[in-house]
Amino acid sequence: MSALFSPIKLRKLELANRIMVSPMCQYSADDGAANDWHFTHINTLALSGAAMFCIEATHVEPIGRITPGCLGLWDDATEAALKPILASVRKRSKTAVAMQLAHAGRKGSSHTPWDGGQQIPIVQGGWQTVAPSAVPHKESEQAPLALDGAGLTRIRNAFVDAAGRAERLGIDALEVHGAHGYLLHQFLSPIANHRTDEYGGSLENRMRFPLEVFDAVRAVFPADKPVGVRVSATDWVEGGWDLDQTIAFAQELKRRGADWIDVSSGGVSPLQKITLGPGYQVPFAEAVKQATGLPTIAVGLITEARQAEDIIASGKADMVALARGMLYDPRWGWHAAAALGGQVSAPPPYWRAQPSQFKELFGKTSFGAR
Ligand SMILES: Cc1cc2nc3c(=O)[nH]c(=O)nc-3n(C[C@H](O)[C@H](O)[C@H](O)COP(=O)(O)O)c2cc1C
Repeated sequence: MSALFSPIKLRKLELANRIMVSPMCQYSADDGAANDWHFTHINTLALSGAAMFCIEATHVEPIGRITPGCLGLWDDATEAALKPILASVRKRSKTAVAMQLAHAGRKGSSHTPWDGGQQIPIVQGGWQTVAPSAVPHKESEQAPLALDGAGLTRIRNAFVDAAGRAERLGIDALEVHGAHGYLLHQFLSPIANHRTDEYGGSLENRMRFPLEVFDAVRAVFPADKPVGVRVSATDWVEGGWDLDQTIAFAQELKRRGADWIDVSSGGVSPLQKITLGPGYQVPFAEAVKQATGLPTIAVGLITEARQAEDIIASGKADMVALARGMLYDPRWGWHAAAALGGQVSAPPPYWRAQPSQFKELFGKTSFGAR
């Protein structure tokens, strides 16, 4: 029996295996609206064999986008654009569809990665970003505006509004993006948060806004559907956000009904010094799981079926998320199931792809001709 291909239940959501397609920005939307690219991309990876596909960082207001091409869900047009994509996925795939709700804060107004990824100055068509404090991500950059009470309320409401739209679209689960140096992580990390009010200073104060956002999203999303949070377990910078604070944050999230912690790292400072290697963030997921008992998702340079199996079988994490490995091999889940003796669901037009030595890879299938 493969541990990776064993089921897991998150609230009422039943997943047939422990694999999630990690959220991946495509930087290809039109004013926040999904288009033909998203249709192809999402439908392709909905057939990867992963039990859950997580839609890329979906921004809750236009100035919360990382780049002008980032996906959004803030009005009827952005909602309508996702509708046919979801309808197609539901028709062809059994994957659960999660959505990552995000706000980029001071990392907004950036060029797409393939155009260098640097800040777009306002005079060149960029926009004024917002953040916990008027501290730019890089010293040379235009500073964000520090959010006041009205700004915090607007953004919290935007998360709530997007969660409501996600529910209307039939999204199965939400992931609140609290990682990678974006707005909620900016509140958590003393590197970006220099506030002196009740949203800055102590750990309790720095956690306040991210927890308020989580509570607000949790309250509006149906109680039978899970809501998880992605965190950066460390800033990889001395004096920054670290694993102990992550565990304290995860404990608070657990009390408030979080269903998983998706454990990533870094992103808040250009001074970060990351030690990269296969599964380099798995120990963070393991530490969060051990300390809190919450389901964790391990992510980061997990590329091999056996590696993923070991992570789940040894209890280091409850699920794995793959990003680049899935782009490289969009049937990663099929190949992992073949290697580990698991099963995946494939659409009938593809059943004949089942290799003869893996007789039940797609379960009980039959087809004929005359
Ligand atoms: C093209 C691309 C886009 C990404 N976009 C997001 C995103 O929208 N939200 C997020 O939390 N992480 C994002 N990430 C990070 C991945 O979800 C993942 O955490 C990271 O790539 C490490 O996993 P991997 O080694 O399997 O690629 C992105 C990564 C890639 C390669």
